[in-house]
Amino acid sequence: MRKAIILVVLLAVTATVDNSPARSPSKQAPADKKLLEKLGKQIFFDKNLSNPPGLACVSCHNPESGYTGSVNPQINALFGVGSGVVSGRFENRKPLTIMYAKFCPDGPPYYDEGLKSYFGGFFLDGHANDFVDQVHFPLLNPNEMNNLINNHPAPQLVVQKVSSGHYAALVKQIYGANIFSQPSDKIILQLAKAVAAFESSPEISPFSSKYDAYLTGKAQLTPSEFNGLRLVTGSNTGRPGGMPYYKDAQCVLCHGIPTEQGDGPDLWTIYSYENVGVPKNPHNPYYNMIDKKINALGYNPLGSAYIDFGLGNYIYPTKGLSPGNSGVGSNGKGDFLAVNGKFKIPTLRNVDKRPSPNFIKAYGHNGYFKSLKDVVHFYNTRNLTTVPGEIINFSNPQAYANLKGKSLWPPPENPSSVTLQNPEGLPGQIGNLELTEQEENDIVAFLKTLSDGYIKR
Ligand code: HEC
Ligand code: HEC
Repeated sequence: MRKAIILVVLLAVTATVDNSPARSPSKQAPADKKLLEKLGKQIFFDKNLSNPPGLACVSCHNPESGYTGSVNPQINALFGVGSGVVSGRFENRKPLTIMYAKFCPDGPPYYDEGLKSYFGGFFLDGHANDFVDQVHFPLLNPNEMNNLINNHPAPQLVVQKVSSGHYAALVKQIYGANIFSQPSDKIILQLAKAVAAFESSPEISPFSSKYDAYLTGKAQLTPSEFNGLRLVTGSNTGRPGGMPYYKDAQCVLCHGIPTEQGDGPDLWTIYSYENVGVPKNPHNPYYNMIDKKINALGYNPLGSAYIDFGLGNYIYPTKGLSPGNSGVGSNGKGDFLAVNGKFKIPTLRNVDKRPSPNFIKAYGHNGYFKSLKDVVHFYNTRNLTTVPGEIINFSNPQAYANLKGKSLWPPPENPSSVTLQNPEGLPGQIGNLELTEQEENDIVAFLKTLSDGYIKR
């Protein structure tokens, strides 16, 4: 990917949003839209909707953590991934933020020949097509809200609870008095639309960070924050495409913003799928969920050998092949589509948002990282060892053979020479950015300016 493409991608992203019938708030009368958002919020915060009751969408997407992850310190610090309503059950992944997700292009993931990348779809691997489709998954997932009867998805459980709940009247007001006599699938679809309307509302994409205030001249960045902005954009002005800065941390290759301010929102992602080489999280409790008897639909048959192939987890099964096209059920051609290890690029907005300054937040698809400093240090040194100047080359199948020093990081979960960004560890690129400690800190300082709530609206 090159910088020049960022703008094109953003335009494409914005266009997709405008055309999407699933979230066509503009086609609704404002009053209806407000009602729908109100209902969506009720559903999103309703802890009664899990089976047994106790877990709402908001439990795993808490506003105080930027709508990503729980505010339970242990979940973040110890595990990193989401915890389901049934005790002992966990998600295999860390919750993605819902913030600014309304700008994500709809799926299914498609390969863009020109941009040489995959785009489109919700979740880290694109397995839901759009905002409305997405809502069904957590409700029916045994490791999340668990609305199942005898191991079969049971949307009727959700419908029963909504129809006897405190906002049933609102549902009738919006969809008509007879709404609850319709088939459960149809009702769930309407409820999902309401959730999508809430998730598309300005409350979830407020553009109210210090960075936004800086863009309109209402706030000044500190020297450290501004240096961080120049490093992440590689540009003297802090806007991609300006005169090159003396160093380039390359972040906007993926966490992109338009080259011209105002040519679309600064989303800090281009929503494509990439492999940056996040290691396995050894503390992921999903590795221990091996008992089929207690969790027939959500158990992990591979135990600690489980590899999250990201996009390869989704694309190959849609072609009748096994996840990642490896092991039993594969056609022996390996990762022939070059998708393994690619995860959707998350927005950097609100990455630092947390309930209190000392709260530990987990990062990466599996929650491996426990601080922003860790993440930036990883991008800076992924390909390095304890011996200065020694570089691990992941395009070499024996990458770790004959190293003089010790690798600074565990191996990538998907150490693929084909999908990994800068597998060779070339200096100045991801994995070997040649940043000083102070420059790493400046990038972290900048990332903190992306938390919403600075501008009061
Ligand atoms: C048990 C924790 C948990 C609960 C409960 C939960 N989620 Fe999530 N959510 C996650 C995880 C984990 C992911 C990322 C999973 C993946 O990528 O495969 C996610 C991803 C998402 C995304 C995708 C964002 C994107 O950019 O693709 C949306 C939207 C979302 N959740 C909305 C909801 C809604 C709506 C509900 C309630 C109906 C809900 N979630 C309930 C854990 C949870
Ligand atoms: C090649 C594309 C690419 C580049 C370049 C890149 N990132 Fe990322 N970034 C990603 C992807 C993809 C993920 C998700 C990876 C995963 O979870 O496995 C990610 C995840 C992150 C996360 C964790 C977010 C979360 O919610 O868990 C942070 C923070 C981050 N990147 C910051 C940066 C910074 C700072 C830079 C520049 C030093 C950078 N990234 C460069 C693609 C990229």
